[in-house]
Amino acid sequence: MKTVKKAIIPAAGLGTRFLPVTKAMPKEMLPIVDKPTIQYIVEEAIESGIEDIIIVTGKGKRAIEDHFDHNVELEETLMKKEKYDLLEKVNYASNVDLHFIRQKEPQGLGHAVWCARKFIGDEPFAVLLGDDIVKAETPGLRQLIEQYEETESSVVGVQQVPKEETHRYGIVDPSTMEGRRYQVKDFVEKPKPGTAPSNLAIMGRYVFTPEIFHYLEKHQIGAGGEIQLTDAIQQLNDLQKVYAYDFEGKRYDVGEKLGFIRTNLEFALQNEEIGEQVAELVNQLAAEQKVRS
Ligand code: UTP
Repeated sequence: MKTVKKAIIPAAGLGTRFLPVTKAMPKEMLPIVDKPTIQYIVEEAIESGIEDIIIVTGKGKRAIEDHFDHNVELEETLMKKEKYDLLEKVNYASNVDLHFIRQKEPQGLGHAVWCARKFIGDEPFAVLLGDDIVKAETPGLRQLIEQYEETESSVVGVQQVPKEETHRYGIVDPSTMEGRRYQVKDFVEKPKPGTAPSNLAIMGRYVFTPEIFHYLEKHQIGAGGEIQLTDAIQQLNDLQKVYAYDFEGKRYDVGEKLGFIRTNLEFALQNEEIGEQVAELVNQLAAEQKVRS
């Protein structure tokens, strides 16, 4: 069996839900406390055993490449000032071996994954979305890779969401269940409110066999006028089994405003350096707001 050693991180979307900040700043570079979102994702891939990562970028995304590049001036200054702890943090990002490819136009997530096909070749591979952070004891992607190793089949990470939110996600229609793993009848992208076949939502972590590229190759336009990854997964499921795995851990949607603020607050409250002060600040702000209203 071929092992999963390569991962794609699509990060070429326009981030329209975050305008105007995303006009010149990639949303994947927005900070969660002091680290850009995409670094948390790269760290998860590495902790899951991935050896080669390709990031799909696009127009206005240079900051992502710069972040993972050496900044000699900064490193020398930190060295001179003996700020070794900061130097270590800065060096972590620049020591990760990453590859970049451009998606010329943001035609959808399925198209972004297809752009990396030559880098993947004929191997199983992982996809981690550039705006979804997962906090878990066993890294989210590692859990899916373990399922791939058991089944030798593609595995899509899912979690349960409230019924009224199902229209925002790709949803699976499960048949049988074994522990946290489901066999799937159908994958539906953003079902209309009230029509979702379950509340199991696809959550930004995937392991695929390379056959997925046969379907991405078709460039079929789906929901929202985009080339959807979910449509290709549905077609792959007709050829070979695709499982859904309800992974353990907490997933943070950093790609929309409320999710981003919530993630920042939660991570700041858990931060050793500033956590206590942030807790005081939150209480104080809530009290001030109460007096005002
Ligand atoms: P989203 O749909 O959340 O991102 O894609 P978006 O299109 O940038 O955001 P909005 O809806 O306009 O606010 C999930 C991930 O897939 C990437 C995004 O960068 C994000 O990390 N993506 C999306 C691409 O790489 N290319 C695309 O064409 C679309």
